[in-house]
Amino acid sequence: MDRTTEISLIKEIIGLAEQKSAYLDETIAHSPISRYASPERFERERSALFRRHPMIVAHSSELEGPQAFLTKEFLDLPVLLVRDGDGKVNAFLNVCRHRGAKLVREASGCKRIFTCPYHAWSWSNDGALRGVPHEEQGFPDLPRAERGLRRLPVAEAHGFIWIIANPDAGDMPDIDAWLGEIATDFKWLGMADHKVAVVETLDIKANWKVLVEGGLEAYHFRVAHKNTIGPYFTDNLSTYRMFGRHIRSVLPRISMPDLTQTPEDDWEIRRDANLLYTLVTNCQLLVQQDHVMWFHYEPVAADHTRVRIVTLAPKSYPDTEEMRERWAKNQLITTTALKEDFELGEEIQSGFASKGNPSHLFGRYEGALNRFNLVIEEILAN
Ligand code: FES
Ligand SMILES: [Fe+2]
Repeated sequence: MDRTTEISLIKEIIGLAEQKSAYLDETIAHSPISRYASPERFERERSALFRRHPMIVAHSSELEGPQAFLTKEFLDLPVLLVRDGDGKVNAFLNVCRHRGAKLVREASGCKRIFTCPYHAWSWSNDGALRGVPHEEQGFPDLPRAERGLRRLPVAEAHGFIWIIANPDAGDMPDIDAWLGEIATDFKWLGMADHKVAVVETLDIKANWKVLVEGGLEAYHFRVAHKNTIGPYFTDNLSTYRMFGRHIRSVLPRISMPDLTQTPEDDWEIRRDANLLYTLVTNCQLLVQQDHVMWFHYEPVAADHTRVRIVTLAPKSYPDTEEMRERWAKNQLITTTALKEDFELGEEIQSGFASKGNPSHLFGRYEGALNRFNLVIEEILAN
C-alpha cells in the first residue's frame, strides 16, 4: 500500500465518523441459502473453484531450508510439499505410484528420498522414481519416467506457497497477475519476512462462506463481540474495496476518528485499524499492528469447514519466551472473538434445515458480503 492510499483510507473513515454514517452500498441484496446448504452446490465449488484456482496452502516458513517437506490434506487430496536442494518448491500428490499407499506419513521433516512404507519404492524430492525393490523380475521394462510422483501446479510468492489442488489443472498462473492490484499491498505487508508463531485448527459445523462472511462487516461487532473485542472498534463502521476477485476491508478502532488531532505525517493505518484481506479462493489475512493473522478455510462438506488460524510474526522479532507468550496471548484474543463468530455460524447453518429463510438479507452495511458471493457465483458460472 502506498502512502497516498494509506492516508486516503484513514481520511475516508474520519469523514464517515464525522458524518455519523456507515459505509453504504447502493442497495440491499439477497443471498439464497442454497449457496450455503446445498451439497450439489458444494460439489460445484469443489470442482469449479477449489480444484481450478490457486490457493495458499502453507507459509514459506513452514517449509524452511533445502530438503524440507510438509504434508497436507485438502479436499480429500493428500499433498506433499518439498523444497529441493536448489530451494525450489515442488508439490506432489502424496500417493505412491505403485499401489497408492500414502507415501509420506509424517507431517513435516527434512528428506532427499521418500520411501513408501508398503513395498519400499522410492522417489527423490524432485519427484523422480529412484528405487524399485526386485525390479528386474517383478517389473520388467518398467517405464520409470511415467512413474514419477504426480505434480500439482505450485508457486511460491509473497511468503506463501500456492497450489492448485488438481494434478490436471495445467500451469500455475502468475501469482501477481492472480492477485491483481492487491499485489501492491502484499509487497507492503512483506509476508516473506514473517514466520509461523502459533497455529490452531478448529472444525466448525458451518459452510465456509458463512465463516468468511463473518469478517466482512462491522455491523455485528458491538453486539456479537460485546464482551470481547467489540468495545475497541467503532460501531458499525468499516470500508471495503474490491480488487478484481479480492477484497480489502478496513476495520477502524475507536481511536481512528481522533487522528484529526494528530499531524497527518504520524498517521499509520495499522496502528488505528485492522485490515482484512479476503483472497479468493479461501484465505483471509487479518493485519494487526505488528503481526498478521492468517485464516485458512478448508471446506470439508457443505456444512463443515476446517479452519486453520495462524499467527504470522515478523522474523525481526526475537524468538524469546516472552515473545512466544505474547504471540500466544494475541492468538487467544483473536480466536476467542472468532469462536463467537463460529458459534453463530454453526447456529446459522443448523437453521437452514428449517427453510425459515429462503435467502439471507445483506443490508447496505454488508455490501462486501454480497460482492464476495458474486465473485464466487461468477467463477462457478465460467
Ligand atoms: S504401494 Fe508403495 S511401494 Fe507398493
Ligand atoms: Fe466477528
